Amino acid sequence: KKHTVTLIPGDGIGPEVTDAVVRILEATKVGFEWERYAAGAEAFEKYKEYIPKDLYDSIERNKLALKGPVTTPIGGGFASINVTLRKKFELFANFRPIKNLPGLETRYPGVDLVIVRENTEGEYVGIEHEVVPGVVESIKIITEKGSTRIAKFAFEYARKHHRKKIHAIHKANIMKMSDGLFLKCAREVSKGYPEITYGEHIIDNTCMQLVMNPYQYDTLLLENLYGDIVSDLCAAFVGGLGLVPGANLGADAAIFEAVHGSAPDIAGKNIANPTALLQSAVLMLHHIDEHAAAEQVQRAIEKVYSEKKTLTRDVGGKSGTREFADAIIQAIEEG
Ligand code: NAI
Ligand code: MG
Repeated sequence: KKHTVTLIPGDGIGPEVTDAVVRILEATKVGFEWERYAAGAEAFEKYKEYIPKDLYDSIERNKLALKGPVTTPIGGGFASINVTLRKKFELFANFRPIKNLPGLETRYPGVDLVIVRENTEGEYVGIEHEVVPGVVESIKIITEKGSTRIAKFAFEYARKHHRKKIHAIHKANIMKMSDGLFLKCAREVSKGYPEITYGEHIIDNTCMQLVMNPYQYDTLLLENLYGDIVSDLCAAFVGGLGLVPGANLGADAAIFEAVHGSAPDIAGKNIANPTALLQSAVLMLHHIDEHAAAEQVQRAIEKVYSEKKTLTRDVGGKSGTREFADAIIQAIEEG
């Protein structure tokens, strides 16, 4: 059986890491058909559209995409392609497992956290305007529907995977109504899951608590902005942004992408770490029920990291993106 996947290489380090991951996926026995599309500034140059209609249609058909990072201009320019796609396909859950790789020494050993980030609401609805010169209003949207469905997602995930605790992270002391509603919904949903301990922590304290002792948490449930920020913080526990995968999940479609961005500081130099996107691809393989291939790739990753011979610079190695991918492919071929 062939799987048709929409492939968005993105820009910056996107093309390098997607190329590595596609080569690795081709080395598994799973059959893939890739529908490749540009997005963002690159697409605009070619088609005068930031997200070409063909790209939308492709995701609509396939319900499945693998995506590299896309640069979003600061200040003016265009709206984030990432945020736009998540909203368009109602990919309301951003799932980000933060887990140490065996063999890789990091700031904290044995971290095993799950971040569940609401992916369509909050400040990221992007409704902003200038009220009068010098005064800007930015609107944060929190809905009962959105908060309840992300809380349900987190609790369902925790139940299915035997996780013990969920903390809803908030600033309801200041954002009394919006974060208050988010918390109220989470609390309500938690009642249906008596086997899972439910707690609530304020976001700033949470950042300190995480760095002091990440082991006190299990699954974190966060609004969009808080989840964005806390994801990068937690990435540092397990070796940085080069490692941490993500899945944007909705009722209908799914887009798999790393937590990191387009990393312009290292783009085009064959030094980016493709592990984050590769582990996103492992999540994708599980999603399409190719569990054997998912485990095969994960084993290859763990082997290459344990051997420490062919690692990228961000994790203390000397190898390039391509050489790392070659080592993974070799590990796959050797079983
Ligand atoms: P970034 O995540 O691109 O990079 C932050 C730091 O981590 C940089 O020092 C970078 O070199 C390093 N890094 C990131 N990924 C790495 C990898 N795979 N291997 C080794 N090192 C890696 O964040 P930054 O620089 O703030 O954002 C750059 C652009 O990416 C911005 O335009 C931003 O809007 C966009 N972005 C896009 C995302 C997406 O497409 N989903 C997500 C986050 C940011
Ligand atoms: Mg981010």
